[in-house]
This record gives sequence, C-alpha cells and structure tokens, in this order.
Amino acid sequence: MVEKAVRGTFLDFVDDPWKHVGNEEESVRFHADGLLVIDDGIITDFGPYAEVSPRHPDVETTVIADRIILPGFIDGHIHLPQTRVLGAYGEQLLPWLQKWVFPEEHKYADRAYAEEGTTHFFDNLLASGTTTAQTFTTGNLTCNEVFFEEAARRNMRMIGGLTGIDRHVPDYFANTPEQFYDDSKTLIEKFHGVGRALYAITPRFGFGASNELLAACQKLKQEHPDLWINTHISENPAEIHGVLALHDDCHDYLGVYEKYDLVGPKFTGGHGVWLSNDEFRRFSDTGAAVAFCPSSNLYLGSGLFRLGKATDPEHRVLLSFGTDMGGGNRFSLLNSLEDAYKVGMLNNTILDGSIVPSEMDLAESERNKLSPFRAFYSLTRGGAESLYIDEFVGTFDIGKEADFVALDYTAGPPATAWHQSLLYDGGELTLETAADLLFGIMMVSDERAVDETWVMGELAYKKA
Ligand code: GUN
Ligand code: ZN
Repeated sequence: MVEKAVRGTFLDFVDDPWKHVGNEEESVRFHADGLLVIDDGIITDFGPYAEVSPRHPDVETTVIADRIILPGFIDGHIHLPQTRVLGAYGEQLLPWLQKWVFPEEHKYADRAYAEEGTTHFFDNLLASGTTTAQTFTTGNLTCNEVFFEEAARRNMRMIGGLTGIDRHVPDYFANTPEQFYDDSKTLIEKFHGVGRALYAITPRFGFGASNELLAACQKLKQEHPDLWINTHISENPAEIHGVLALHDDCHDYLGVYEKYDLVGPKFTGGHGVWLSNDEFRRFSDTGAAVAFCPSSNLYLGSGLFRLGKATDPEHRVLLSFGTDMGGGNRFSLLNSLEDAYKVGMLNNTILDGSIVPSEMDLAESERNKLSPFRAFYSLTRGGAESLYIDEFVGTFDIGKEADFVALDYTAGPPATAWHQSLLYDGGELTLETAADLLFGIMMVSDERAVDETWVMGELAYKKA
C-alpha cells in the first residue's frame, strides 16, 4: 500500500474532560494546521503540518480546508432493523415495541428485505459521521449474516450480535434459548474477529429474557470470554416493574444480569435512566458501561438520565452515547448531543435547588453541563473506551485505524453560515473558537454538518 496523508484542522482527545473541571482544554489535542499520515488504513504519523510534513516529503496529500476533522463517531447503541420505523407515533417503550417494532423487525428474516434495510442503515450511519456502532439486530440468523456481510463490504468496525428475546413477545418473533445459543455460536465462529467485526452476545432486555435465555448468554460468555455483551437496562418504569416481578430474588435490574455473570468489562447496558446510586457504583466497580441515549429517552418519554451522577468521580461510569435509532428519532449523534445538553439543563432545574432547596447539588449540576469538549469526547475517545475498542479507534494516535469525519461548521439550516460567522470570520482557528463552532454544530445543525466521512483512510461518504 502507498502512504497517503490528509491536511486540515484536527481535534481529538488525550483524556476525559470530566476529569478537568474548569480546565477542560487540557483534555484536548488540537492542530489548526495538522497532517495525518496513513498507511494501509492505519495512522502512521500525526501532528502539526510543519513538524510532520518534512518526515514525508513525497506523500500524496488531500487537503480538507475549512472543516474540523474529528475521529469517526461511535454510536454505542443502535437498532439496525428499526431504520424504517424511525419517527413512529404515539407510544412509550412497551406498547411501541409491540405495535411498531416487532412486526417490522420480523421482516428481516427475508434476505432481500434485510439487504435493503441494511443498505439504508449503513448509508445513514456514514452520512451522520458514524464509523462504528454497537448494533442490535434481530433474533434471526439471516438478518445477522446480512449485517456482518455489509459491515465487511464497507470495511467498518462494527459490534453486533443475534438479538434474543423469548418473553413478552409474539410467537412469530420469539427465539428459543436453544436456537439462540446455536445461531449465536454459528455467527461467532463465522464473523467474530474477522476483518473489523466484533461479536456481542445480545439478550434484548431483562423483560424479554427467560432464565434459560440468560443462562445461554452466560454459557456463551464462559466459552468466549473475549466477546462483548450488549443489552438494555432500566429504561422505562413499566419495564423495570416487569423485570423485578420476574426475578424476585434480585433487588434491582442490574442484579438480574449479575446473576448470570454478564456484568463487567465489555458489558453495555443501554439507557440506565432509572439506575440507583448503588447500581451506578457497581457499574463503575466492574468496568461495565452505560450507553446514554438522550434522543430516545426523550422521544419515548423514558426519562432524564443523570449524566452528572454517572460522571461523579466517586464512581465514574464508562459511557458511550447512542442514538438508539428507531427508539431515538434521529440517526445523527449530533442530535443526540443536542438532546443530551437539554437533558442536563433539565436535571439542573432540580439540582440548582430552585424547586426543593435540599436537593441542591452544584457539583453534580456542573457535571450535567455538556460542554462541546465533553460532547465530542463522548462520541470518540470516551465511546471507544467504554466499548473497550480504544486500541483500534477513537483518536488520531499512531497505530489507530484511520476513521474520521470532516465537519462543516457553515452547514445546517439556511442561516448557519451567518450565525457561525458571529464566532469566526477567517484566519487560523484557535481551540477556543473551534469549541464554540462545535457547540454551534451540535445545537443548531445535524447531519448537514457532516461533509465527509472516511473509513480506514478511504473516503466513504461525501455530502452531495
Ligand atoms: N428494550 C428492548 N427492546 C428495545 C428496543 O428495541 N428499543 C428500546 N429503546 N428499548 C428496548
Ligand atoms: Zn435500544
């Protein structure tokens, strides 16, 4: 392979901004004029253009001007077969699943339908700047094969797995624990670790899993300790009551997954809206992660995730951000950032003590504020660390896979360029101005700001 390079303005993270309250810029690496050198999809050199370019005098260079280039976005929680039910009207989680989701997902047992839906799914990811996603599929083998085949065709680092459910589900859509185990085994052997694919044992949620299905997950994890585990937890109050009624030996939702030895590194529980302080502590102690899905939590009316609690240094929980599309009504993680910011602001109405003075907690309130650094860290390095894929992606460190997104801060609703020119009207960008522009992108724009998405050093999407 021939070495190539990209020149432009680069921003990534060297640390967790929540660890640098008041000095978040210490967590950032910024090169207003930088050079990223890539060989065979892997980053081989990176830094200021003036420093790096003399080391590569003949390298073929693509210049990406007037953009901010970040590591590709990581969606920690999304549902492939819900691409077509995006924006379904009128229900909270449990009736929404029955009315909209199970009938649609069932169609993915048909290969032609699955291929059509999967093509739309990946096209939408790339148009949103998302280069990696931890993905729910269905409990059907064909749907999962199509997912892994398409991910391989696009050379994307994806995590996914057969999504099992055998309770509170129509018969036509139910797995049996034996079929779940056997088909998961087939997929693990065929796809896990092949190319960029990673396999997640995926019990859909506690409310939809018999003890036998959870025991099958436990057995798979014992047989393949390097696998990921992806599920939902504590999303909706009706769901939680149902789970605790099924497991009267567990005193909270996390306890159900603990009972089957599923909780630890590489475990992600999506949502976690109603987690107790004790559950947060157990997530933190075991190295398990939560996927924060703000757009979904608002859209399905699930509730307000306690971001400032999850990021408490006393028990910092690993976090990815997820769209949860189609529970979330957008494919773009930029919209998730917008919603996450608003969730933080709403939580702070309680924490500033203005409703009940005894509930004032200014430190937690500060952690609820989704600064642009916290936001884009969460989509990149933070997401990668929470999913235990930071050896591959999430930063521009040498040795990482060259997945990145070029954001156009002038693109969005009609007046975006004029609006952003309040902050910046030319010249070399400073970190401070870049942060302001990034905040403008997440609060005012959407996937229109995604100008280019690169996968393994190749242009995979260019906005029309
Ligand atoms: N819990 C179980 N299945 C689902 C799903 O498809 N979406 C969401 N948001 N929550 C779930
Ligand atoms: Zn979900």
